[in-house]
Amino acid sequence: MDAFEYRQGQLFCEDVPVADLAEEFGSPLWVYSAAKLRHEYGAIRDAFSEVDPVICYSVKANGNLSLLKLLNDEGCSFDIVSGGELYRVQQSGSATERVIFAGVGKTDAEIRFALEADILMFNVESEAELDAISAVAGSMSRVAPVALRLNPDIDARTHAKTTTGKKGNKFGMDIERHNELAAKVLGDANLELRGIHMHLGSPILTTDPYEAAAKKALEVVRDLRAKGHQTNWINLGGGFGLSYLGNEAPPYSEYARVILPCIRQAECRLALEPGRSICGNAGILVTRVIFTKREGGKLFVIQDGGMNDLVRPAMYDSFHRIWPVRPAVPPPDDYQQEIPGCEPADVVGPICESGDYLARNRWLPPVERGDLLSTFSAGAYGTVMSSHYNARPLGAEVLVEGDAYRLIRRRETYDDLIATERD
Ligand code: LLP
Repeated sequence: MDAFEYRQGQLFCEDVPVADLAEEFGSPLWVYSAAKLRHEYGAIRDAFSEVDPVICYSVKANGNLSLLKLLNDEGCSFDIVSGGELYRVQQSGSATERVIFAGVGKTDAEIRFALEADILMFNVESEAELDAISAVAGSMSRVAPVALRLNPDIDARTHAKTTTGKKGNKFGMDIERHNELAAKVLGDANLELRGIHMHLGSPILTTDPYEAAAKKALEVVRDLRAKGHQTNWINLGGGFGLSYLGNEAPPYSEYARVILPCIRQAECRLALEPGRSICGNAGILVTRVIFTKREGGKLFVIQDGGMNDLVRPAMYDSFHRIWPVRPAVPPPDDYQQEIPGCEPADVVGPICESGDYLARNRWLPPVERGDLLSTFSAGAYGTVMSSHYNARPLGAEVLVEGDAYRLIRRRETYDDLIATERD
C-alpha cells in the first residue's frame, strides 16, 4: 500500500493534497498517513498470527503521542529504551503491561519507573544491570521479569552504525554465557527469567540473519530448559527492512517463514520490536525551496529542511527519495538512474556545515524558489533525531486520515528554543 501518491500532477497523502497542508501549517512539515500505520501493523501481526506474537512497536523510531495512541488502539504494544519513552507511552494513554524495556544503560530511576508501570519484561544487557534491577526490585519488594539479551554474533549486513548482533558491539551478553547468566537469575529471588532477546541490527534486507538467530534461540532455549530454567519467551527484536527505493524490502511473510518453525519447536511466546518498517513509509518531510544556485559546476537546491530535521543522509549516507510536490516531470520508477527532463542537484539545507544535505547528485526536475519538495520514507528516525542545531525550531507534524487531517505537534517558536534556559 502506498499512502503517498501523485494524482493529477500533485502529491496526495491519502485524500489530502500535501500542498494544502504546507499552505496551512508551513514547512518543514512532517506528514503521516494513519492508514499506512494501521496497514503495516496489521501486516506484521497477520504474518506471525499463527503464534499470537506480542508486537512491541519500537518507540525510538517515532514516539509522537498520536502515533502511539493509534497503534495502541490497534492492539500493538511498545518497545522502549528510556524512562522518557515509557512516559510517552503512558501519556499517549496506552497500556504498559506488555511494554518491553531494552537498552544498555538503564538507570535505577528508570528501572523503578518501569517496575511501577508493571512492564512485561526488561531486556537485560549486562551482569551489572541484572544486579541493579535485582537491587531496585528488592527495595520495592517486587520480583522483576527479565529476558537475557544475547549477542548471537550474526552479521546482519547493515550499516556499521546500526549493526548490533556482532561480537564486539556494545549490545547484549555473549551467547556462550547463557547458562551462567540464567543460573545467576535463578539464584536471585528478586528476578524471574522470562526468556531471551536478540536484536541484530537495522534495517535488515535479507531473511537469513533472522533464520540464523531463530535457530540459535531455539538451541539456547532447549539448553536452558534441560538445565531446569524457565524460558517461555523468544524476542527477536526489530530491524525488518523498509523499501526506501521501491520494493527492496521482503514482505513480513518471508521473515515469518524462517522464524516461525523455530518458535513452534521451542514452544515459546514470540515478541518482536519493529519500528522502522511500521512507520518509515507512513511519513514524509515536506520542505520549501528557498534558493537555487549554480556554483563550482553544480546545481544546489537550498531548502528550509536540513540535517537538523532529518539527519539520516548526513549520518548514514542513507538514500531518501526526493521529488517536488507539484512536479514538472512525473515521478520515475527508478530514482537512481538518469531521468529525462531532469538534472543532478545537491539538495541541501540552511545549516552551516558541508555535511548538511538530504541528497547529493540527485536527478530532479526543474525547481525554483518557493516550490515544495517531499522527502519520502521519513516517518522513522526523522523527527525523533531532529535537533535545534543552528537555533532552528522543530517543524510541525500532521496526521492524515482519509480526507481529514489534524496537527499532532505544533511548530516550535523562538520562545520554545530558550524556554528551559536560565540567566
Ligand atoms: N529493538 C532494539 C533493541 C533496537 O535497538 C532497535 C533499533 C529496534 C528494536 C527497532 O529497529 P527497527 O525495526 O526500527 O529497525 N537511527 C538509525 C536506526 C537505529 C536503530 C536503533 N535500534 C537509522 O536512522 O537508520
